[in-house]
Amino acid sequence: MRLLLIGDIVGKPGRQIVATAVPPLREKEQLDLVVANAENAAAGSGMTPTIYRELIAAKVDGITMGDHVYRRREIFSVLATEQRIVRPANYPQAAPGRDVMILHAANKVRVACFICVGRVFMPPVDCALRAADRVLNELPADVKVILMDYHAEATSDMQLMGRHLDGRATAVLGTHTHVATADEQILPGGTAFQCDVGMTGPHKSILGRRIDRVMETARTFRPTHFEVASEDVRLNGTIVDLDAQSGRATAVRRISIDMDTAEKLAKE
Ligand SMILES: [Fe+2]
Ligand SMILES: [Fe+2]
Repeated sequence: MRLLLIGDIVGKPGRQIVATAVPPLREKEQLDLVVANAENAAAGSGMTPTIYRELIAAKVDGITMGDHVYRRREIFSVLATEQRIVRPANYPQAAPGRDVMILHAANKVRVACFICVGRVFMPPVDCALRAADRVLNELPADVKVILMDYHAEATSDMQLMGRHLDGRATAVLGTHTHVATADEQILPGGTAFQCDVGMTGPHKSILGRRIDRVMETARTFRPTHFEVASEDVRLNGTIVDLDAQSGRATAVRRISIDMDTAEKLAKE
């Protein structure tokens, strides 16, 4: 069985490459499940009901949202009613949205998917390690395939989460930094791990935003609108092969697809 986690989808360019590449990629790579972090999907921050439906129509099975989950208030209705989107599990219980989703993969296997946010250089939240324990303890016993998106800033935090869940989750894959790391591996207990799967959006940018705007604010402190950039659009993500019976990962591989390749895939 094979699943793909797509890294932070940024704005329209990110959504466009997802819509172009994901349907043919599912065929080509025989993907049973596709999950995407989409906290930056709406003009670089947050998510709307229309974009939620757009991503589901692009054959994304589930959506994880990080620290930007509530940037657009329109999403509250989706968080309240839809089954394929999660907010961070280490937010307060009363926070809008669900903290875990059970997705049905193409091969009929049920997959639990959740996200936590880190606590380094990020707003204070509950301990992600304990929140992850709670989510795992509350899962139905027959759900063996578990994908955790750890949305954190510090690589040390991400490695701690990988080791904490090693042997208990199928994959602990990071998002949030918007930069893919070269450390994909299977940990000793059978958990696929990578600090960050990277960004899906324009790479001629500062983390997806226009270089000139971010630079001006960095140099002068003059506020500017950090518009989403447009060039060098790539889809970054990580594919995990796993044994559905045990829930253990057997292989992990980074992918990076540019727009030319995505368009070729779509024409095949
Ligand atoms: Fe992000
Ligand atoms: Fe984030």
